[in-house]
Amino acid sequence: MFSLIRNTSGKKLRFARNFLTRRMVHVNLQILYNCNFRCGICDFWKEEYRDKGRLSAAEAAIVSDKLNEIGPQIISVGGGEPMLHPELIEITRALAKHHFPVMITNGSLVTESLARQLWQAGMMEISVSLDYSDPANHDAQRGKAGAFAQGLEALRILHETRTHPEQRVNMISVIMDDNLDDVEPLIGLCQELGITYLVTLYSHSRGNKPGRESSADPGRRLLELKKRHRHFVALRGYLEKFSGSTPGRCHAGRNLCNIDCRGQVSFCIDRLGHPVGNILTDDTREIEHRLLESHQTNECRDCWTSCRGSIESVLYGRHRLLNAWDYYQMTRPVPLGGKF
Ligand SMILES: C[S@@+](CC[C@H](N)C(=O)[O-])C[C@H]1O[C@@H](n2cnc3c(N)ncnc32)[C@H](O)[C@@H]1O
Repeated sequence: MFSLIRNTSGKKLRFARNFLTRRMVHVNLQILYNCNFRCGICDFWKEEYRDKGRLSAAEAAIVSDKLNEIGPQIISVGGGEPMLHPELIEITRALAKHHFPVMITNGSLVTESLARQLWQAGMMEISVSLDYSDPANHDAQRGKAGAFAQGLEALRILHETRTHPEQRVNMISVIMDDNLDDVEPLIGLCQELGITYLVTLYSHSRGNKPGRESSADPGRRLLELKKRHRHFVALRGYLEKFSGSTPGRCHAGRNLCNIDCRGQVSFCIDRLGHPVGNILTDDTREIEHRLLESHQTNECRDCWTSCRGSIESVLYGRHRLLNAWDYYQMTRPVPLGGKF
């Protein structure tokens, strides 16, 4: 445990410097696109992504070393379903050497043993996707019977097996046109478990999907829920813009980027088809330069997902101090064996 703390404080200082100078701080990394669920809102399990392969642990070590030339990153490990990857523990260890790995999972493959290994390997945060408070609705959206029950059990196991107070467990929901009323009961479940709750707004620009944005003023409703429930830790600056106001300039390419399972780097997860280079083979500074170029010409205002919105709120938003306080609540230590 001592080495985890010592290792983390050095990374934190370098991360803080990059954060304050508004450099790259967040990387979405899909280690594979295979998935055991068939979510109605996602394309990654479909035919077109199936032979993309997966990032090996050896390649993840290269990604980790090369990204470290820019500085420590929050690396969001996803997919597909990241827990299907046979080398997930080794990948986590390789990323944690220089960075802060976090993961989003559907929770279906979480066991006590795997959870412990993940935390011991240096995972800093795990979020489990649960979109509806009614198990049947969640299972239908996710295309998998039992998905809700598995997600809930995963949250319990993950919270109980943490090995360090800074390791955090969240439930995360995609806000769509039909689940705003589910948010309060889902926050209630988080409170019972002693974990925290996050949201992201549905994006129709991933693939070619129909609009499913809520018309019921979700921003106002979510802010009101946040005021009443301290377990709802999403940034207020992010929630404020859920109600149809046009987002500002996207900071993808400058403060965040995406790496796919073959090492292809693009400024955004919704722009996988427009890579600027490959982190496994290309010079890191050249990739950083090309990402900045793509940022400068990017006029996209198509989504308000949490990677984009949280960065904008905490680095550029109107009430940066309040958002910094929210960010602290999102990341502060929770005692082992205790509840948030
Ligand atoms: C692509 S999934 C991968 C991780 C894992 N398989 C899961 O289901 O959580 C990562 C996150 O993106 C969310 N997501 C999927 N499709 C989305 C969309 N069209 N708009 C916004 N978020 C989406 C998922 O709900 C999940 O929270």
